[in-house]
Amino acid sequence: MKKETKRILVTGANGQIGTELTIALRKIYGEESVVASDIVVPNAESTLHNGIFETLDVTNFDDFERIVRRHNVDTIVHLAAILSAVGEANPMRCWNVNINGTLNAFNIGVKHQLSKIFVPSSIAVWGPGVPKVAPQEGILKPRTMYGLTKVTIELLGDYYFQKYGLDCRGVRYPGIISSEALPGGGTTDYAVEIFYKAVAGEKFICFVNENTRLPMMYMPDCIKAAVNLLNAPIEQLTHHCDYNVGSMSFDVKSLVEEIRKHYPNFEIEFKPDYRQEIADSWPDDVDDSDARNDWGWQPDYDLPRMVADMIEKLKLKITKKEIKQN
Ligand SMILES: NC(=O)c1ccc[n+]([C@@H]2O[C@H](COP(=O)([O-])OP(=O)(O)OC[C@H]3O[C@@H](n4cnc5c(N)ncnc54)[C@H](O)[C@@H]3O)[C@@H](O)[C@H]2O)c1
Repeated sequence: MKKETKRILVTGANGQIGTELTIALRKIYGEESVVASDIVVPNAESTLHNGIFETLDVTNFDDFERIVRRHNVDTIVHLAAILSAVGEANPMRCWNVNINGTLNAFNIGVKHQLSKIFVPSSIAVWGPGVPKVAPQEGILKPRTMYGLTKVTIELLGDYYFQKYGLDCRGVRYPGIISSEALPGGGTTDYAVEIFYKAVAGEKFICFVNENTRLPMMYMPDCIKAAVNLLNAPIEQLTHHCDYNVGSMSFDVKSLVEEIRKHYPNFEIEFKPDYRQEIADSWPDDVDDSDARNDWGWQPDYDLPRMVADMIEKLKLKITKKEIKQN
């Protein structure tokens, strides 16, 4: 018998996605029903402290299991991970956290008959030669350790579903753009950092060239994808941890043009580094028709709407900070 009540544990909650997804889940299910956890304790001002917070290294099975039992958790939203750029600096740490952390989540899921595990994948599952619009099914030959771990996790998701009936679900997120927490060392971080510079009136040095085009998604759509997939009836799902989800796709030039509608004097200089090669190995866009057909995926934000909202949010954030400092 699977547990019915909703008690969600979010791992990696102090990261870019976790910070906002935890708030969203607490709004839906109640503050006491969503336990936030991370290996890093958030600063005192963090909204993660508005509910339960537990310090947790997901590579430690016993600690992970203890927290699941202590809070009678039935759903794990497993976000703890080492992303692409940081993963290339420390590939073994990337493998250990991403693979062993996820195996711990899956094994706890089986042992305690958890209701669901949400574990995001990424556009990093693709590698050089991927079609410009990546299909749902196709060859996955990533060149980064991060990409390798994401392909492995997708396969593990299928394996645990078939062998143990574990309900694990996930989407291949594109680059996520958000204003609350800074990104944690991925290849698409430039699409967030650029806004901080624009709003501060400073020049931005971009680590990929102006023609780099990648799929991206604004945080409200990132949250919507997680919540909607978590709530979709299992009978409707034709995939487990590997749903393509598209939203917008743009090159850096187009992003700059859109930002200049708000800041006409915004300056940018291009100094591509090792992350250019990673970006070039990822698709421009994705075919997400299975997500649309199976569980009604539909993003709300396009480039102009995202840019306008990001700028508004960051201006507000800076004003609040200034008020606090005075
Ligand atoms: N942000 C994106 O653009 C993006 C795109 C595709 C997929 N994803 C996926 O979404 C998930 C969340 O990504 P994010 O952007 O929030 O990443 P992030 O780097 O901002 O956050 C990851 C969090 O995991 C924590 N962490 C690291 N090692 C840990 C450990 N051993 N135990 C517990 N916590 C640990 C970090 O402290 C951090 O707070 C990841 O699976 C990532 O691969 C993110």
